[in-house]
Amino acid sequence: MQPANAERGQWGSRLGFIFAAAGSAIGLGNVWRFPTTVGQNGGAVFVLVYLLAVVGLSFFVMIAEFSLGRRTQRNPVGVYKTLAPGSAWKYLGVLGVLTGWGISSFYSVVAGWTLGYLWKTAVGAFNQASADQIASMFGSFVADPLTQISLHFLFMVATVLILMGGIKGGIERWSKILMPLLLGILVLLVVRSVTLPNAGIGLEYYLKPDWSKLTGRGVIAAVGQAFFSLSLGMGTMITYGSYLSRRENLVTAASWVCALDTLIALLAGFAIFPALFSVGLEPSIGAGLIFVVLPNIFNKIFLGNLFGAGFFLLLAIAAITSLISIVEVPAAYFIDERKWTRRKAVLVSGGGAFLAGIPAALSLGAVPGLSSLLTIENRTYGFLDLMNLLFGQYSLIIGSLGVAIFVGWKWGLSNLFAELREGNPDFRAERLFGFFIKFFCPIIIALLLIYLIFNPNAFA
Ligand code: PFF
Repeated sequence: MQPANAERGQWGSRLGFIFAAAGSAIGLGNVWRFPTTVGQNGGAVFVLVYLLAVVGLSFFVMIAEFSLGRRTQRNPVGVYKTLAPGSAWKYLGVLGVLTGWGISSFYSVVAGWTLGYLWKTAVGAFNQASADQIASMFGSFVADPLTQISLHFLFMVATVLILMGGIKGGIERWSKILMPLLLGILVLLVVRSVTLPNAGIGLEYYLKPDWSKLTGRGVIAAVGQAFFSLSLGMGTMITYGSYLSRRENLVTAASWVCALDTLIALLAGFAIFPALFSVGLEPSIGAGLIFVVLPNIFNKIFLGNLFGAGFFLLLAIAAITSLISIVEVPAAYFIDERKWTRRKAVLVSGGGAFLAGIPAALSLGAVPGLSSLLTIENRTYGFLDLMNLLFGQYSLIIGSLGVAIFVGWKWGLSNLFAELREGNPDFRAERLFGFFIKFFCPIIIALLLIYLIFNPNAFA
């Protein structure tokens, strides 16, 4: 099948695709959310369950998404319109496009914080500040409307500019430069962190499982984290797969993306936990882990400002290569289904996400009414939290379940295997892949969804 129109484009090389897909997967989810969730769920034991979730669920959902995208060369809505014409399946694609818009709006706000903290750390704003002062500095930073909206705007403008460059010249070119840079800075931080005094305590927490800390909530959180981190459930990997040529081996590509994403998440843990314990802080601190705690750590180490600025630069890089993939989903929809030019599609998607992100940017203190919209079991959700809960969690789980059911039961395993044999004629693992995609993934994800409906705070 040929691309729908000249505005679509294709990846220039296999390596370019892997960098771009890994760039999508590796983001705030790995560097900020992964260590935070590890810290809230008992350390090493959570890491183990997370690894199982990547290998047993996410890897197969990723294969399914790549296959659908490459088969049809379409955006998520176009996929279902092509493979199940006239059916309600297209609404699964619509959900993906809406989710792309929803996630990009608040993701850009949080990504903006990395720019603010890059600047603050580089100029030494936290030097000599006490832990309490650092915490209140974060509070006043996120409560300042002008700063929040400007940083959100800046991040979205950078995203739109990269996306306007298209598939090969934009996403691929930038990912190839930014991804290796990211790995380099992270390795530097790990070396610094594991050589701090008392780093061993953090390493033990991170590596030696304490089985008494294994909880149902931890298992659910691990699976949810794996979907978020691997950009699954909203059609990002469908869209990236749609720019892929028939010669590529999808199983190898998915293996690389899963391995690189997991490597970065694990390295982020190695950078954070030894340092955290070295200065005697609690791992379960939650969402403020990076923005409230790390400046304390950077204050206490040699060349702290430099390492701190390096860390936030790394996080900004990771966030932008993810954000471009999120905004690309609605953009691909407009290009394919509405026949818009790439320029117009990207401007409308990015502009829409910017507007939708304004209430999120103002919901951390700037406009008090937006910071507490809903309370479930003692947990108060502001606008940003609600967007994260709805789009970043529920929607991704529903989307992943839908993809597994569609591929396993509607499109069918024989079509999937035929697609996997393109670029990999020796593919022989039909029974293994069939079992996981048709039975294991739908059942486990459905159970997860049921659990989430009854425990809306499971990820909170
Ligand atoms: N995987 C990204 C991260 O770990 O930060 C976030 C993300 C990107 C989620 C794309 C969902 C998505 F479709």
